[in-house]
Amino acid sequence: MTTGQAISPNLALDDYVARRRAAGDDLVHLGFGEARLPVPEPLHRILTRGARRNAYGPVAGAPAAREAVAGYFGRRRLPTAAEQVVLAPGSKPLLMAIGLAVPGDVLLPRPCWNSYAPQARLAGKHVFGVPIPEECGGVPEPAALRRTLHAARAAGHDPRIVVLTLPDNPTGTLAPPGLIREIGALAEEEDLLIVSDEIYRDLVHDPARPVLSPAEVAPARTVVTTGLSKSLALGGWRIGAARFPAGPRGEAVRDGVVSVASDMWSTLAGPMQEVAEYVYDEPADIRRELAARARLHGTVARAVYDAVTAVGARCRPPTGGFYVYPDLEPLRERLASRAVTDSASLHRHLLAEYGVVVLAGHHLGDDPGALRFKAATSMLYGHTAEEQRETLAAADPLGLPQVRRQVDWIAQSFAKLAG
Ligand SMILES: Cc1ncc(COP(=O)(O)O)c(C=O)c1O
Repeated sequence: MTTGQAISPNLALDDYVARRRAAGDDLVHLGFGEARLPVPEPLHRILTRGARRNAYGPVAGAPAAREAVAGYFGRRRLPTAAEQVVLAPGSKPLLMAIGLAVPGDVLLPRPCWNSYAPQARLAGKHVFGVPIPEECGGVPEPAALRRTLHAARAAGHDPRIVVLTLPDNPTGTLAPPGLIREIGALAEEEDLLIVSDEIYRDLVHDPARPVLSPAEVAPARTVVTTGLSKSLALGGWRIGAARFPAGPRGEAVRDGVVSVASDMWSTLAGPMQEVAEYVYDEPADIRRELAARARLHGTVARAVYDAVTAVGARCRPPTGGFYVYPDLEPLRERLASRAVTDSASLHRHLLAEYGVVVLAGHHLGDDPGALRFKAATSMLYGHTAEEQRETLAAADPLGLPQVRRQVDWIAQSFAKLAG
């Protein structure tokens, strides 16, 4: 069986940029969903303390770490027992294990994060993409979801899982509570399991914006995944967690995931359990750190949003995470004169003419003929840990040369492209 691609397109792109930069090329890299920020200071000490944890320990995670994650969810209106939590080396393997443990095909928002579809195919599932609403991404448009579901069933398929991303990668938006309630009700009616990927939850830009998890409206049928790769830029430390519903259905899914884990990764690395326990308890230093990061991501995502919309691109205003997802359809005629006619040629043109690296929309399940791409704005904080630290601490990050230069570069590139 094959997923049809050798390596995830985003990882391949990041390798490519690293090689070009090593060869001396200057590029603006918006093609990889990583928060280029340093490890929060207190975690150096916690990780060192965790170095003595060399035993495997329980597959689902050490009791104290699971308890800490349960507390994290409890503070987000999701009362949780430690038994409902499973920790893992990243949320990606957890999402894969859910796909292996739960039978049936998968409904995905279109566009969506580039690993959901290959993972579903690896698990032998059919994938059905459903367009996202005008206002936000991360959820399928409800009426289209129902239509797609019924058509798939009529064609003999068996969709039983819908994946939501809240806030969303790639659109950088958070679906509003009303929409979550609609999807929750539809999942109840149609007997779907909701997988709610909330890895960006702590990066909602405006702390006053209401966040509703589908686990609040459809508690018996929602699995929530989360992790520290985005909120604290710890992707390389590989810390993820899942919260399974209380009750028999949730327990069956959890047991299936733990069974997959026991044969695949055994457990989260011991030192990382120490880190998870500390972070998910959310001491004041971690809360401050999260708030500062969410603020920075919002400021820079909005600056890139301003740059692309200034030349006539359509784009949903970013509200969470660190992405924008522009649509250059209004510029189609002008772009056609430069042989830019689809998302692949747009990606190539931006790279070749302006040294701007983006992830083309078709890698995210979007229509290959559309002129859409994802830009990860979290890559603009500086090239060294020192610059990144300074960016994070700055009252006006856009005033710093390491950020300003790249934001200006983007603005000028799009001005030329549209000119
Ligand atoms: C929406 C989404 N979910 C999950 C992941 C996987 O994160 P990790 O495996 O590092 O927890 C990512 C990372 O790019 C993501 O953007």
